[in-house]
Amino acid sequence: MCGIVGYIGKKPAFPFLLSGLKRILYRGYDSFGFGVIGKENKLNCFKRPGKLDEWEQKLLEMNFEGNIGIAHTRWATTGTVTEANSHPHWDCHRNIFLVHNGIIENYKELKEKLEKEGHKFHSECDTEVLAHLIEKFFKGNLETAVRNALKFVRGTYGLAIIARNDPEKIVVARNSSPILIGIGENEYIVASDAAAIVDRTKKVIYLDDGEVAVLTPSRFFITDINQNQIEKNIKEIDWDLEEVQKGDYSHFMIKEIIEEPETIENAVRGRLMIEEGRVKLGGLDGIQEKLRKINRIILVACGTAGYAARVGEYMLEEYVGIPTEVDIASEFRYRKPVVDKNTAAIFVSQSGETADTLAALKEMKEKGILTIGITNVVGSTQSRETDAGVYTRSGPEIAVASTKAFLGQLAILSMLAVYLGRQREMALVMGKRIVSELTKLPELAKETLKSAPEIEKLAKKYKNFKNFWFIGRKYNFPIALEGALKLKEISYLHAEGVAGGELKHGPIALIDENFPTVAICPLDSVYEKMISNIQEIKAREGKVIAVATQGDKDIKKIADDVIYIPKTLEMLTPMLSVIPLHLFAYYIAVLLGHDVDKPRNLAKSCTVE
Ligand code: AGP
Repeated sequence: MCGIVGYIGKKPAFPFLLSGLKRILYRGYDSFGFGVIGKENKLNCFKRPGKLDEWEQKLLEMNFEGNIGIAHTRWATTGTVTEANSHPHWDCHRNIFLVHNGIIENYKELKEKLEKEGHKFHSECDTEVLAHLIEKFFKGNLETAVRNALKFVRGTYGLAIIARNDPEKIVVARNSSPILIGIGENEYIVASDAAAIVDRTKKVIYLDDGEVAVLTPSRFFITDINQNQIEKNIKEIDWDLEEVQKGDYSHFMIKEIIEEPETIENAVRGRLMIEEGRVKLGGLDGIQEKLRKINRIILVACGTAGYAARVGEYMLEEYVGIPTEVDIASEFRYRKPVVDKNTAAIFVSQSGETADTLAALKEMKEKGILTIGITNVVGSTQSRETDAGVYTRSGPEIAVASTKAFLGQLAILSMLAVYLGRQREMALVMGKRIVSELTKLPELAKETLKSAPEIEKLAKKYKNFKNFWFIGRKYNFPIALEGALKLKEISYLHAEGVAGGELKHGPIALIDENFPTVAICPLDSVYEKMISNIQEIKAREGKVIAVATQGDKDIKKIADDVIYIPKTLEMLTPMLSVIPLHLFAYYIAVLLGHDVDKPRNLAKSCTVE
């Protein structure tokens, strides 16, 4: 989704805008732009489709002067990828300049009205409507014009707005699209992502829906759309700049895969009570008694987070004994789910800003359902909107393809199973067994990573195939889905996950020597069934890469290739079986020469529907 950066203070704006924008390119974009108010309130504006680094030298030569400015990376939603549709957008008199993340749903009707009133448009982008609407209400005070204009807008926005004729300020507004304000030394920084701010200041304010902030070089204030003053708490970003830098790694993605053992460690640290066979999840303390009463759980998420939720479904049913279901947020938000006061809805999201997941969350809150968030980004909308929640503590995840955050989500879900199970029938012994195994997982994950060289060889062997099945059963069915998603989203090869038991119901028709299968087949309760699947595939000349448990020699007799993972509890196996699949996808994508960290068409956080 789009990236926003803004600066107002005593120093030149442009160098900061450029460095800040570069730090959020990972979100995915197809065009970029800058707007800086210079001498005599001249506005320097430069915007282009394409990659920022192709223009960086020219931008440095232009080096717009001025200490107030905004910048933007666009991920096209309404309007094709052209210079005219890039941001900033401006009004008829080039007074108002703004950048936007979100979708203006009623832009067509607004545009028609404004054109009838004589406004001339220069793009097909929905955002431009906002510039003309603000112009309509502008009588010298920018924030007043913005508040009046936004009353007519339906849709989502994170906005940063400047005006030549009211030059000493940036007005910021938010509705559903994340936007935060960095509180620096005599300077304020606006951003849609903390990564753009963290090297200047760690003090931030997260705007909430319906809030409008006015930043001047000496102060800031926040109101609602009706100009009622709002006091906000200043929060602290809890990570450092180097965590959002690649270091010696070739890509963020491989860095984040290698961080997966540490991610498990961070997720469980201070939360495991081995002797008592319990876990401590401080974020749930406030709803502990409510959790005792729930008799149904719905897990809601998108993409990779949705697959973590699916693993959680098996855990919660098996170890808590509560009916549990999973739905993808984009469907759930339009369903008519039958829920009641004893239902709990759990939302899983790395960014905490995924529009579909947030919309589903809003639906559940309106119905008075207990909402719990499993979130990675501190201060994100999901973490602030849910009744309670648990942070995965995975640290910033920069690569578009989610890897370490997935492990963090699984670790939290495992602990949630113990937390809720021990409130119910789970015995001390079982609690102790799961908790003590969780303490071993980081080491087991490190051991799993040691197979990286073999997996790189497999990537070389299989990189020219155009289609893959990923199959798994029970706890590893969601891992088959995740492995397929990881491969397709960064290698652009066709890959699908399917439950092992479903193969015979159609998918096996595709199997031949050109259609390999990755079979997740650890020594668990469905091992024999998976072995049968592998034999069915081999009988049809299909090649099989098996993910198997160390010491299993039989599987070598039937699979073409085997990647071994250490033995652990069945419910925890996904945290190990997924690691080779992340590596497999990564190495194939690198061999195929793709932009692994910023794959085509994708964004890190889907903050629009
Ligand atoms: C995962 O590799 C994808 N990039 C995508 O499916 C992602 O998991 C999904 O958009 C959900 O994002 P969230 O966890 O930030 O809500």
